[in-house]
Amino acid sequence: MELRDRFEKLSAKLYGRPVRQCTEAELFHTLLVFTKELMADKKQITGERKLYYISAEFLIGKLLSNNLINLGVYDEIEKVLNESGKSIAMLENLEPEPSLGNGGLGRLAACFLDSIASLGLNGCGVGLLYHFGLFKQIFNNHLQNAVRNEWITDQSWLTKTDLSFDVKFGDRTVRSTMYDIDVVGYDNGIGKLHLFDVNSVDESLVGNGIDFDKNNIEKNLTLFLYPDDSDEAGHLLRIYQQYFMVSNAARLIIKDMKDAGHDLHELHKYAVVQINDTHPTMVIPELIRILTQEEYFTMDDAIEVVSKTCAYTNHTILAEALEKWPMSYLEKVVPVLVPIIKELNNRIRKNNPDPVIQIIDDENKVHMAHIDIHYGFSTNGVAAIHTDILKDSELSHFYKLYPERFNNKTNGITFRRWLLSCNHGLAKLFDETIGTGYRKDATELKKLLDHKDDQVFLDKLDEVKKANKQAFVDYVRKTEGVELDPNSVFDVQVKRLHEYKRQQMNALYIIHKYLEIKAGKKPETPVTCIFGAKAAPAYVIAKDIIHLILVLQEIINKDPEVSPYLKVLMVTNYNVSYAEKIIPACDISEQISLASKEASGTSNMKFMLNGAITLGTDDGANVEIHDFVGDENIYIFGAKSDEVIEHYKKADYVSRDIYNKSKVVKDAVDFIVSDKALQVGNKENLERLYNDIINKDWFMALLDLEDYIAKKDEILKDYADREKWKRMVVVNMANAGFFSSDRTIEEYNKDIWKLK
Ligand code: G1P
Repeated sequence: MELRDRFEKLSAKLYGRPVRQCTEAELFHTLLVFTKELMADKKQITGERKLYYISAEFLIGKLLSNNLINLGVYDEIEKVLNESGKSIAMLENLEPEPSLGNGGLGRLAACFLDSIASLGLNGCGVGLLYHFGLFKQIFNNHLQNAVRNEWITDQSWLTKTDLSFDVKFGDRTVRSTMYDIDVVGYDNGIGKLHLFDVNSVDESLVGNGIDFDKNNIEKNLTLFLYPDDSDEAGHLLRIYQQYFMVSNAARLIIKDMKDAGHDLHELHKYAVVQINDTHPTMVIPELIRILTQEEYFTMDDAIEVVSKTCAYTNHTILAEALEKWPMSYLEKVVPVLVPIIKELNNRIRKNNPDPVIQIIDDENKVHMAHIDIHYGFSTNGVAAIHTDILKDSELSHFYKLYPERFNNKTNGITFRRWLLSCNHGLAKLFDETIGTGYRKDATELKKLLDHKDDQVFLDKLDEVKKANKQAFVDYVRKTEGVELDPNSVFDVQVKRLHEYKRQQMNALYIIHKYLEIKAGKKPETPVTCIFGAKAAPAYVIAKDIIHLILVLQEIINKDPEVSPYLKVLMVTNYNVSYAEKIIPACDISEQISLASKEASGTSNMKFMLNGAITLGTDDGANVEIHDFVGDENIYIFGAKSDEVIEHYKKADYVSRDIYNKSKVVKDAVDFIVSDKALQVGNKENLERLYNDIINKDWFMALLDLEDYIAKKDEILKDYADREKWKRMVVVNMANAGFFSSDRTIEEYNKDIWKLK
């Protein structure tokens, strides 16, 4: 039957009406059911060996468009809907976005699931079903407030399975249920994301904001991702969550193996576990526990087989992500794992007493990453420079012990979501210009270089960007009530809020520009500085930085002398859907982390693919982008990673010295606590931030500020040379192919997973 007829038949069945008479809500539901039916027709991806990608985060975004694209029916469905004056985008507005992730880490996991299924690899994701996700961000009085993000509705992509396990903690036992979300491969079969929930969860524990009783584990376990851990109860809750995740994962793995009739002594032949950051680390001792206590393995055999099964990905060198849990916490939450962790520790200590590599340190804290490295067969970083830093400094002691275990897997993004789905205009132009081969093999984007001097193509490219900017302007007017100038340069920094990512440095640039304009120096091309970022609710300075940006937005946008030249927008509740609107509209991609601190970054890849030029430091994947596009097609500034690492080693960075020496820096920083700023903002927040910057500035924003200002002025000036700019854009797009997550996943598979 024709797709159109099937769709009509379904709407008749569900609502007793033809498509053209259905409401948007009815059509959304019909399309959801219809898409699920098409997915059910597809084959499930299978294979002898299976990957379990365990992650605390899967920032999957809305799935409707993406699933239709991957099923290959997007255009046809769009046509059917258009005839009734509707569109897929319109219906997708009704789909709630799950916030099952925080930033790049979780979005990477989602891109990986897409690529795994698209390459037909037998792999699944395993995580938790957080009912309210991270949180939903709202702004009140220029401050971030967090409220619960409700996304689980009757009509969703989730399927409840029959699979259920008991999870035993030290002080209680809870029961889980596994829910599945199907992952549609592009022109391929279906993979799975398994999300575990606790049966006794109680949403009513949470009021309006995000506060709840942290001790009521039975009810709160799967309410939020990263619940506030500023106190002991919060720490314990995170351990409860992590063990709940890995205990279910381990049970699932053992069950799959037994169902397939495999001998558990050959676990490593049939299963491979990728531990995404340290959150799932306890899967190692948990698997060892199950094998020794329930499957009659000797400790030696269990350790050997589990070590050959598990691999670890490191995403950061920042201490906060290299978790260290006090032994006393583990004794309370997971006493069953404690003897195993001690045994793992003893085996290391016996051979090598070097304190830096021990699992349990002198303060009786358990270093989760150390478990992963000692008892996993692979440790990888996520961009070349990041892996080098791991080998040469952060994890050098481990690298000396196990050089063969260390490898690099530069991150990637799925072009299905980050081009085909979010930028239809551009994808269509690519189709017309170089054919559709790039949709399967992203390296074919290289063919765009043949059109670098083709004026017709360049002009069309410009038209696509203009249309995307206009669409964004319209959206922002409607949702944020802010009027932007589509003819201004869109300068965008969207990512998790963190001092090392240096949104504060960007804010200082804005102040500098504002002061210049006030002093009569008007920029040639107006610029719009766009931010999107959530700050962890317990991260005080991060929230102060948001406050500063919102204060600047208020001051600048309302100043008639300044706003024709400069505008600021911090979008509310930045998420995947917002990213899909912002990225295609962007001109300048801000990747300004302190060199050595951003492991990779992935928005840098999304931006280059969508025709923005990078303004960045030599950090993370910027370094590789730089190598690909060459000096003339990227704007690099700031201290290099070696220099930064030296500063930390010598502890010789004093931000106040820079502040005292440079008038430009001083004027910008002083503005934070000026009368003008204090009229709009809060004294407490602004003074705290000001003091932090001049007395600490742990991530050295002042070190690079002057260089940043100079580079940013250069890139803005170059933007005015439209022909030069368009060519830079083409070079960036043409070189984006390497950053497809299909390439990344092929590398993981070849070197680590070895799935057929
Ligand atoms: C983290 C890292 C980032 C990396 C990402 C995926 O993302 O900081 O450099 O690209 O994991 O590997 P974040 O959570 O900071 O967004």
